[in-house]
Amino acid sequence: MEQINIGLFGFGTVGQGVYKVIDNAKNAHAVISRIAVRNLAKTRDTAAPQELFTDKATDILDNPEINLIVEVIDDPEASYEIVKQALRKGIPVVSGNKAMIARHLPELIELQRQYDTALLYDASSCGSIPVIRNLEEYYDNDLLLEVKGILNGSSNYILSRVFDHNQPYAEALRKAQELGFAESDPSFDIEGYDSLFKLIIITVHALGVYVAPSDVFTYGISTIHESDIRYAREKGVKIKLVAQVVKVSDEKFTMFLMPEFVPPSRYIYSVDDEYNGVVIRGECYDRQFMFGKGAGSLPTASSILSDIMARRHDYRYEYKKMRYVDRPEYSTDVPVRVYVRYCETDIPGILPFAEIREQYLSAESNYVIGDIKLCDLKRHRDLLSAPDVFIASLPTFFVERDNQ
Ligand code: HSE
Repeated sequence: MEQINIGLFGFGTVGQGVYKVIDNAKNAHAVISRIAVRNLAKTRDTAAPQELFTDKATDILDNPEINLIVEVIDDPEASYEIVKQALRKGIPVVSGNKAMIARHLPELIELQRQYDTALLYDASSCGSIPVIRNLEEYYDNDLLLEVKGILNGSSNYILSRVFDHNQPYAEALRKAQELGFAESDPSFDIEGYDSLFKLIIITVHALGVYVAPSDVFTYGISTIHESDIRYAREKGVKIKLVAQVVKVSDEKFTMFLMPEFVPPSRYIYSVDDEYNGVVIRGECYDRQFMFGKGAGSLPTASSILSDIMARRHDYRYEYKKMRYVDRPEYSTDVPVRVYVRYCETDIPGILPFAEIREQYLSAESNYVIGDIKLCDLKRHRDLLSAPDVFIASLPTFFVERDNQ
């Protein structure tokens, strides 16, 4: 059996996890041959032989012994350059860089085809949970109705700490950073962009359609306030940052990313701390639930190892669903029900609600619950960034075909 000689790009939280996991993986027949890092002088927690390290990408890319690249660096632009160069040289790549993949996936798919090589990235979405390979291989386009879940460990950790343990928001964020879950710029976690990138990738493998990140309504948790938590507690629900891609008819699907009031009857209600949970709903089988660690060094490294092992069997994504003739089209012309809390901003005067279902006014803060089209929320996205505003969705069923 041919040995896998890995060129590892990045030796941060995930890179060090990969190093440890490979060291213990007796069946992988894989060794880390070189490790490329930006700063050779930096001290790192995990000891690895000094001669493995280099600060030159070419020491890996031009090394004929290296037959697999694992790319887990923190900088999406640098990652994009490395992955493109590797694929153009026909070297297969395993990557965990969700921002890079979500932004460039159509081009990366074309490069894999053109240079007859593979890019695997299960680690990019939900850490240790094998979401991508399952969507790619198992779920067909006709029965699948919805993929919905908690895709970001840091924001979920913060919400759990604030909601269940009354911890201050800033303290919970600091702890998520210390534990190594948060991105180097944690606004990606708390503003929802990290979940958005994962949702973009999931949608390609779920429905065979690529949607650019800028086309998706995305709203995070940074403006959450004590009054929102009080409201949720009174109603017996939790606030979770939820990503969803959902068919609204046989021809149309929508996707969005925003906090949601989750009742105890839902699987994701009990997904707490840094855990991720993904619900896959379909005709005939109703709901299936995948739960596990979505962030952190070793959980993410376990997914990288799984992709390395898959390469041992020449596995690659075939993107079969992208070639189906009958793919649903992305639309934001879809009604959603939302709670919007506000103070100075004139939310009821500006947002074009189709129907207002509940309204509450007080000296401290106000809220409105109403039905509005997703495209209208998207159009007023800037207004919703005001510090006095917070928005959360109330779950709606778009298609319930089992009952028809
Ligand atoms: N910052 C990410 C999270 C890391 O918290 O989920 C895993 O993608």
